[in-house]
Amino acid sequence: MAKSNNEDSGLSRMLTLEIARVTEAAAVAAAKLRGHGDEEAADQAAVDAMRTELNRLPIKGRIVIGEGERDEAPMLYVGEEVGLGEGPQVDIAVDPLEGTTICAKAEPNSLAVVAFAEHGSLLYAPDIYMDKIAIGPGFEQGIVDLDATPEENLQALAKAKGVPVEEITACILDRPRHAKLIEGVRATGAAIRLIGDGDIAGVIHTANAEETGIDIYMGIGGAPEGVLAAAALRCIGGQIQARLHALSDHHRKRVAEIGIEDIDRKYSMEDLSSGDVIFAATGVTSGSMLQGVRFKPSGIETETVIMRAKTRTVRWIRTMHGQSG
Ligand code: FBP
Repeated sequence: MAKSNNEDSGLSRMLTLEIARVTEAAAVAAAKLRGHGDEEAADQAAVDAMRTELNRLPIKGRIVIGEGERDEAPMLYVGEEVGLGEGPQVDIAVDPLEGTTICAKAEPNSLAVVAFAEHGSLLYAPDIYMDKIAIGPGFEQGIVDLDATPEENLQALAKAKGVPVEEITACILDRPRHAKLIEGVRATGAAIRLIGDGDIAGVIHTANAEETGIDIYMGIGGAPEGVLAAAALRCIGGQIQARLHALSDHHRKRVAEIGIEDIDRKYSMEDLSSGDVIFAATGVTSGSMLQGVRFKPSGIETETVIMRAKTRTVRWIRTMHGQSG
């Protein structure tokens, strides 16, 4: 019997539902510590819960983007094998708590995030910074470019959208390192949505500019977050370009150790994430993308978005986790 379109990649289509359990568990664990001012405890709770769920899955999973190197992260470290050891070989990128600070402060948009990918299809990015530029779907390839000036990019995007540049909004992490970028964007007349943390959500927001009001993401954030954001854009459409940004010799050493020869290489979306990929995020704190975890007398409610590159399916799952006993 011929395989259906949904079944012929290295990833089983069952994983598009199983993945929800992984991010839901991490989100619920972190949400119990929402607003408690303890970033580490919230992150640890998310990591523990996520790892437990990953180890229940019928996969031969390997963490390729994780909590750090083996010697610095006891759990979900890069190279750790997870799953039951049977089934498809899956490369896994995790960010059990994206936005540890925002969760600790109970601010919007912290998420539990995972991507399942075909073996060898994600960039094994080191845990350093990455310069990124991203826009949503529907534009000619390359209309914005990491090497162009903010003015060139914003003018090109405004022209493509058929609006004055004043109607464009850029999302940028609020960091001193972005002073020049912010100045450049402001000089064009475009608006800026400054975010305290959470650039995976920042990038994803560009894919639905009408709803989110964000047309473009610009600036330097984490490299692992860049790969996860690219995986999401591969599923929902859009463009992202990125380049590693090393701050020290230690960072450059890490890059070389991983086997990346050209640290100045400009990565396309497909360089960051190719092949089939399933991306899931569950809200920890409520935000413009997802409802946060809600603890109710009847149970615990979570909201999750799951996307798959191969089929371009996007599922929104609201789950009520019943309290046992
Ligand atoms: P954490 O959840 O690891 O704290 O990451 C939050 C985040 O804002 C990411 O979204 C972003 O890529 C990165 O931190 C930026 O790093 P920095 O806080 O060092 O500027």
